[in-house]
Amino acid sequence: MNNANNSNGFYQQQEQWYADGVALTDIARQYGTPCYVYSQTAFVSAYQRLKTTFCHSCPQLCYAVKANDNIALLRLLAEQGAGFDIVSAGELQRVLLAGAEAANVVFSGVGKSSKEIDTALNAGIGCFNVESEEELARIEQRAAASDRTAPIALRLTLDIDGVTHRHLTTGLVGGKFGVSAADGQRLARVAAHSSHLQFLGFSCHVGSQIVDEQIYLRLARAMAEQVTLAEENGIAVQRVDMGGGFGVDYQQINPPLMPLAEYDRALAAHFSEQHLIIEPGRYIAAAAGVLLTTVEYVKTSADKTIWVVDAGMHTLLRPALYDAVHPTLPLQNSSAATQTGDVVGPICESADILARDLQLALTAGEYVGIFNAGAYGMVMANNYNTQPRPGIVLTANGKWQQIRRRETLADMLMFETDV
Ligand code: LLP
Repeated sequence: MNNANNSNGFYQQQEQWYADGVALTDIARQYGTPCYVYSQTAFVSAYQRLKTTFCHSCPQLCYAVKANDNIALLRLLAEQGAGFDIVSAGELQRVLLAGAEAANVVFSGVGKSSKEIDTALNAGIGCFNVESEEELARIEQRAAASDRTAPIALRLTLDIDGVTHRHLTTGLVGGKFGVSAADGQRLARVAAHSSHLQFLGFSCHVGSQIVDEQIYLRLARAMAEQVTLAEENGIAVQRVDMGGGFGVDYQQINPPLMPLAEYDRALAAHFSEQHLIIEPGRYIAAAAGVLLTTVEYVKTSADKTIWVVDAGMHTLLRPALYDAVHPTLPLQNSSAATQTGDVVGPICESADILARDLQLALTAGEYVGIFNAGAYGMVMANNYNTQPRPGIVLTANGKWQQIRRRETLADMLMFETDV
């Protein structure tokens, strides 16, 4: 775990962990745990790193809101001129509140409801990424009902394996996402001839946490073939959306971006005539977040130490759901002896293990940071066991501020009708 410099957001100095000049132990002490801390520097610099990496193909960067939907973060990206990839009317509401222009929004997802389609049409979003023939018909019908024209792209599933965790691959035929190449070509003709649909082009997304650039090169070639085929059939393709999925090296704090230079050049070569889009989520948000937690108890089980902390699978689901490994580090020097064991949460599930087989010096009351938790962390937090979701703090320039308050018991009970 190398020490990083300040431009990376999170760094260690004199055995203390900092975010943008603020000691994480100070936040834990003053604000309480569990809480997420997001570094503004880490978040914005990851966005800018992607912009620089794609300097030849110059795609529009539509941040995948699902990775981290906090409005303060979305506003930072809107200020940078980013577009947004949304999957619900709720996410649309968030990006509009953050100051995004609707024209820079693409709407993905296999299950858009009529209500969501109407909301997106009313807002004037840039494109619906359509995932089925049935959805295309629904969008056409909703657009006709309000005498509008819906801009659409067809999401193609080109049978390219994202080679990632089985829950994170989306590019294979037989899955729930997108339409086949043959259906895509047929539906492009349907859309191009509809008076309530504007056919813009094709989209794709082969999965998440992809670490091999070759997969993207294969995808770019396959998409280029589909563009050529459509144009040979007389259908103009103005837009190509390559989806997201760039992998993060979770073992490192301040992980470098995976190699993508060749992909950038391939995109520039294949799609010089098209408006290109990418939809990264994880890469922008992951390294920008740390989850702070306090050790409640230290117990032993057989020859193992079990550190029971106040965060768990309700605050960070990734270890339980995907066997994800996040750097899990004590935030202070401890007088405790180093032991081998697991960091676990309070939830009554044996899957509620945040980190396994670590060697840590930690005692009750001390703080732990779970790093690289900015993507798919808070968004997947839940109230299982009637546990409140954590608050969120944003750091910038030596200061911190709350950007989402911690939930209360009253918040959790307010939907019950029998209280
Ligand atoms: N575009 C589409 C259509 C997507 O479905 C996704 C992610 C993205 C873009 C952004 O992918 P990213 O750049 O973030 O990899 N909860 C999982 C990840 C699920 C990803 C779902 N779709 C996790 O914690 O690893």
